[in-house]
Amino acid sequence: VKSLAKKFSAKGSKTAHAAVIGAGIMGGGIAYQSASKKVPVVMKDIADSAIELGLSEASKLLGKQLERGKITADKMATVLNAIHPSLSYQAIGNSDVVVEAVVENPKVKATVLAEVEQHVAETAVITSNTSTISINQLAQALQKPERFCGMHFFNPVHRMPLVEVIKSNKTSEATVATVVGYATQMGKTAIVVNDCPGFFVNRVLFPYFAGFCQLLADGADFQQIDKVMEKTFGWPMGPAYLLDVVGIDTAHHAQQVMAEGFPERMAVTYEDAIHKLFSAGHYGQKTKQGFYQYSLDKRGKLA
Ligand code: NAI
Repeated sequence: VKSLAKKFSAKGSKTAHAAVIGAGIMGGGIAYQSASKKVPVVMKDIADSAIELGLSEASKLLGKQLERGKITADKMATVLNAIHPSLSYQAIGNSDVVVEAVVENPKVKATVLAEVEQHVAETAVITSNTSTISINQLAQALQKPERFCGMHFFNPVHRMPLVEVIKSNKTSEATVATVVGYATQMGKTAIVVNDCPGFFVNRVLFPYFAGFCQLLADGADFQQIDKVMEKTFGWPMGPAYLLDVVGIDTAHHAQQVMAEGFPERMAVTYEDAIHKLFSAGHYGQKTKQGFYQYSLDKRGKLA
């Protein structure tokens, strides 16, 4: 993977200016990461309130580092000043790379990607942070699909080292090289993968979650499974806690996509634990109830 990244970055152009469309959990995180690695970034959204949220997340992360003495007040100001909030596409005009990170809806994404293409230079590269939509499908929204690929970050962006760079059938090598290069500038490790349901990470994760749900259906206890995976197997979090962090709604959606993409291998059991929690509206940490109950951010005890 590293040699692949090297091969591509050798041919790519360096990113001097970036833009992210959508200032939500991911867009805000991507903007923060880019700015903190000295690549100035425009953060565009459709609502002032969303932009404020994105900026306040960046401030919070920087504030924590300031408290711990890891950065100076000057550095904090420099990073914040490198995030340029905007409600207008005019601001993205000189971007070398644009990362689309709006809601996971194919129609909205297609509209946004087409709008982006109208406002950037011929040489700009356009990417999508989609976690489940086909990159080949999204590429159809663009007049120059060779300049487009997936750039899939993980949550929380500032902590997760991996970025999946997903090629469509039309993505050019130069586009991949530029995106791998930008990920590297952001301090991330890029892997380059072909377009398929689940890309790379979810193809590994979802069969694992399916195995976990089957164990539960056979009568196993989720807390015991987490304990074994964490304390004795040595993983940072077991499957139940990981699902709560990812979000049961997000996992449920990805599970459907995997089942449609690989019907023989990934048949969804509609009775499984993910489906039951989803139907009950228990989406994990974001609703303070998933496999576990949460008070604030701490793992709680089962009621
Ligand atoms: P979010 O709901 O937190 O943020 C979406 C943002 O997009 C909102 O601020 C919304 O105002 C904005 N938006 C909607 N329509 C827009 C438009 N036309 N122009 C500009 N902004 C617009 O969503 P989140 O979680 O940040 O997800 C964004 C993307 O990242 C989705 O495609 C999701 O699948 C993907 N993703 C999410 C991960 C996660 O753990 N949340 C992990 C990896 C990828």
